Amino acid sequence: MKRDSFDLKGRTALITGAGGLLGVQHAGALLQRGAHVVLTDINLESLERARDVLVGDFGHELISVEHLDVRALQSISDLFRKLLGNGTEIRILINNAAIDAKVSAGTVGREMTRFENFTIDQWQLELDVGLRGAFLCSQVFGSWMAENGGGVILNIASDLSVIAPDQRLYRRPGLAENQQPAKPVTYSVVKAGLVGLTRYLAAYWAAQGVRVNALSPGGVYNQQSEDFILRLTNLIPMGRMASADEYASAVQFLCSDASSYMTGQNLVMDGGRSIL
Ligand SMILES: NC(=O)c1ccc[n+]([C@@H]2O[C@H](COP(=O)([O-])OP(=O)(O)OC[C@H]3O[C@@H](n4cnc5c(N)ncnc54)[C@H](O)[C@@H]3O)[C@@H](O)[C@H]2O)c1
Repeated sequence: MKRDSFDLKGRTALITGAGGLLGVQHAGALLQRGAHVVLTDINLESLERARDVLVGDFGHELISVEHLDVRALQSISDLFRKLLGNGTEIRILINNAAIDAKVSAGTVGREMTRFENFTIDQWQLELDVGLRGAFLCSQVFGSWMAENGGGVILNIASDLSVIAPDQRLYRRPGLAENQQPAKPVTYSVVKAGLVGLTRYLAAYWAAQGVRVNALSPGGVYNQQSEDFILRLTNLIPMGRMASADEYASAVQFLCSDASSYMTGQNLVMDGGRSIL
């Protein structure tokens, strides 16, 4: 009998942006299947909060925490060497860190999230975290996997990797057109770029046993205004947003041998939003 294909005992996963809303859920999903998880984030406070939540459910043994800025090659290489020095071989990498700039309340005169006003500095920051970060982490950890028997990379994209943001969702009553907030252009560019990176690396490392897939979640309930939820859920065939734990089974599937014949794909889980 083959072992349970979802079993992750003996495998170690590194998750970027693990202190955020979904990172901790990805970690919990892998812990449920017996993996060792290395939680990383630039924000130490949220990282410690995430660890405390997970330790409460799963105990200390399989959970490590490391500060990591995904924009900095040195920071990633240092962590890679430190882990390997401890005998920790990363076989699963989840590129999850991103800046999802919350659409602002509208600044007087100029709304900086609008395309016309979007600054090159903000563009650079969001691309650095979302795309450069995934590139660098994949280069450091994925290259090692490719040379050492394989592994899995999971890029966390978004339903906005396959559809454009519907800017009507973000409108605020009473504001002039040029002051209406917008979902920033960077979000679409980063998420579509991650799908491109996914396909590129999947083909590049297929023969070395490194599988690379993307997961594209739809919006998760997180204390948004009732008005926003109503507008968004009207665009979703299933009529609701996701709860934070609804991607866990997909993460388990994509990070384990259960998806052993799948690479280069973008799994879209969005309540059907992108089929309309
Ligand atoms: N929450 C949603 O509804 C939703 C929907 C679709 C896709 N996603 C995607 O899922 C992923 C996680 O989303 P989330 O809602 O948990 O976001 P979040 O903002 O709660 O978490 C993101 C984490 O990334 C960290 N981070 C920022 N810059 C970093 C850097 N330079 N280095 C390392 N870490 C850094 C932040 O500190 C934060 O903890 C993101 O890629 C997001 O785009 C989220």
